[in-house]
Amino acid sequence: MKVLVTGGAGYIGSHTVLSLLENNYDVIVYDNLVNSSIESIDRVEKLAGKKVEFIEGDICDKEKLSKVFEQFTIDAVIHFAALKAVGESAQIPLSYYQNNVYGTVCLLEVMQQHKVHNFIFSSSATVYGEENDVPYVETMKLGTPSSPYGASKVMVERVLGDLAQSNSNFRGVSLRYFNPIGAHESGQIGEDPKGIPNNLLPYVAQVAVGKREKLGIFGDDYPTKDGSCERDYLHVMDLAQGHVAALDWLNRHSEFSGVEAFNLGTGNGVSVFAIVKAFEKAIDKKIPFEVSPRRTGDLPAFWADANKANKALNWQAKRSVEQMMADTWRWQSTNPNGYLV
Ligand code: NAD
Ligand code: WQD
Repeated sequence: MKVLVTGGAGYIGSHTVLSLLENNYDVIVYDNLVNSSIESIDRVEKLAGKKVEFIEGDICDKEKLSKVFEQFTIDAVIHFAALKAVGESAQIPLSYYQNNVYGTVCLLEVMQQHKVHNFIFSSSATVYGEENDVPYVETMKLGTPSSPYGASKVMVERVLGDLAQSNSNFRGVSLRYFNPIGAHESGQIGEDPKGIPNNLLPYVAQVAVGKREKLGIFGDDYPTKDGSCERDYLHVMDLAQGHVAALDWLNRHSEFSGVEAFNLGTGNGVSVFAIVKAFEKAIDKKIPFEVSPRRTGDLPAFWADANKANKALNWQAKRSVEQMMADTWRWQSTNPNGYLV
């Protein structure tokens, strides 16, 4: 089976490509490298001992995309390509809607033209917005996220629903990721943010390696056990395997058409202070931090009800917080400058 992976050179994409190769899928990566490096693909190929077809291109470029569908017989698309910085999305919202919403529409149009109907979309826990109580479950209504980034994910989920209504051949899966962290256990691939990291784990890892002075913990006065925010952190390799499980699910259910959403998370909330402690334990060193003001838009706590994915996809997030920390550190300490070799 041949799978087109948009955004496959990025953080989650590269780990998923590795899992796909290990499960005997053929992979074509389509990525414009706006937030990634081709080096990730070279390393994935070495780890898997298999080749990946790489095409540099933008999902908004329908002509180029069309050529890819003409050149290869594609059975399914896994769509990671998107811009993902929550703060930046408020500064340049039009770029986010263009890239994430229009870009997805372009991809879906080209898929329709070439009669490719299997589609797996990188959605996010952010689609539950501010209205829903925790744990988040797929039967809840889509909420109102606090950022244009989050809104772009809600919009795409709506687009997929409407497309499925209009085309009974369409077979879509929205995977709603919670907070993916960690790296492949080899330490060869991992998260390589450009500039100052927005997310917690890359920031902690850069403090640990001496690239940043100290971590700012955004608020210790939330209504949680220790006052810091709680999130459902899951290992990126568990998440990668969730995509293989979703493809297998589509293959098993040849009668299925429509769109189905699945939460991919562990089902547990872990606080920022607990993450810092776990990282300190993994590296046997203190992480300098200070408590700073709350970050606009942060919710106090959310985690997944992952029962649907556990049962239907036969998938479970298995790796522990300790392993997430150890693998993050292996990647960061052996690649202090990421893929810049
Ligand atoms: P990433 O930035 O590492 O990967 C995204 C990839 O898409 C990059 O390689 C980038 O170069 C590529 N890309 C972006 N715009 C493109 C375009 N127009 N055409 C072609 N390629 C393009 O991000 P990631 O963390 O791997 O996230 C992957 C997906 O998962 C994204 O859709 C993101 O919104 C979603 N997601 C991420 C998280 C998270 O915490 N990392 C959580 C929930 C959902
Ligand atoms: C985690 C916790 C921060 C950095 C984001 C997106 C979400 C999804 C995953 C894509 C929060 C705290 C962070 C720091 C801190 N992405 N923190 N100091 O905000 O839960 O989710 O990524 O879909 O849509 O919003 O993740 O890693 O940024 O933050 O104290 O320097 O760490 O306040 O509580 P978040 P995060």
